[in-house]
Amino acid sequence: PETINDLLDRLSEIVPDYPSAGISFKDLTPVFADPQGLRRIVDEIIAPFAGKFDVIAGLEARGFVLAAAAAYATGTGMITIRKAGKLPRAVHRDDYTLEYGTGTLELHRDDIAPGTRVLILDDVLATGGTVGSAARLLGMAGAQVVGIGVVLELQELGGREKLEGLEVHSLQLV
Ligand code: PRP
Ligand code: MG
Repeated sequence: PETINDLLDRLSEIVPDYPSAGISFKDLTPVFADPQGLRRIVDEIIAPFAGKFDVIAGLEARGFVLAAAAAYATGTGMITIRKAGKLPRAVHRDDYTLEYGTGTLELHRDDIAPGTRVLILDDVLATGGTVGSAARLLGMAGAQVVGIGVVLELQELGGREKLEGLEVHSLQLV
């Protein structure tokens, strides 16, 4: 059987000089588009956390693909953590730093009950700004973050160090 590393190498597309000159971008959209690809990454991303979570939080936008599929597969619900201004009711809000610039994420205050065990899923861990922000938002809501799952971890950016105290699993180191 094909390893998850081999599957990701076979199906993802390397895009040179994107989003800027000198950067080599690993595009996961062909993995999402492939029936075996989507099933394998979803099954493997949740495996380390089996039985440990009550709900899955997905981070707009690319994290939604994984979180919705994983929530359906495990019979749990999905929490949507969104970019600023998209959620209609009262929110918790958190500003975070990206590689270039800043961002803001929001979580509906009453989408999650205190004490709920949450697994955070996103496609890529780079600087850790995005998942770190999501973890803070869930903390504001009184939820318990039991882990973070990503497909790709860009090691040189040191995101994992920024997330100390949280259990982080990635399917592939790049
Ligand atoms: C990308 C990616 C991760 C994040 C990783 O999202 O999908 O969410 O960057 O970077 P970080 O670890 O440095 O925070 P982005 O906000 O670019 O766009 P998206 O809405 O397409 O997911
Ligand atoms: Mg994203």
